[in-house]
Amino acid sequence: MKILILNGPNLNLLGKREPEIYGSQTFEDYFTKLQFHFKEVELDYFQSNIEGELIDKLHLSENEGFNAVILNAGAYTHTSIGIGDAVSGINTPVIEVHISNVMDREEFRHVSYISKNAAGVISGFGLKGYELAIKSL
Ligand code: DQA
Repeated sequence: MKILILNGPNLNLLGKREPEIYGSQTFEDYFTKLQFHFKEVELDYFQSNIEGELIDKLHLSENEGFNAVILNAGAYTHTSIGIGDAVSGINTPVIEVHISNVMDREEFRHVSYISKNAAGVISGFGLKGYELAIKSL
């Protein structure tokens, strides 16, 4: 199985960004552990702060042979009709992941343009959410 982890804006700052919410581990360190833990899975990781690049990656996911995408679109989750449309327009299943429990935060984070077309949503389990998404796949 080949899985793409796609992280959106500001998630490149994990480890130093609001550690009380997002923890103190960098995603690169966590990703290395994931690869070690799930040796039987081909894991790929891409992060961008640019909405269109995330959309392009979603479009390409099928041609690039990914069986699924684990998507944390960061703040674009709550604003991007374009990313929502991309998720509904592709055949590759997408699991929406959030490190924090977005429902326990500001009201603007309660809206997701992705959830409706996601295969599932995982929120509030810290970085472990990515692991849970891989296990579910
Ligand atoms: C986030 C939650 C979003 O509301 C926020 O904008 C992020 C990270 C999370 O993983 O908890 O950047 O997606």
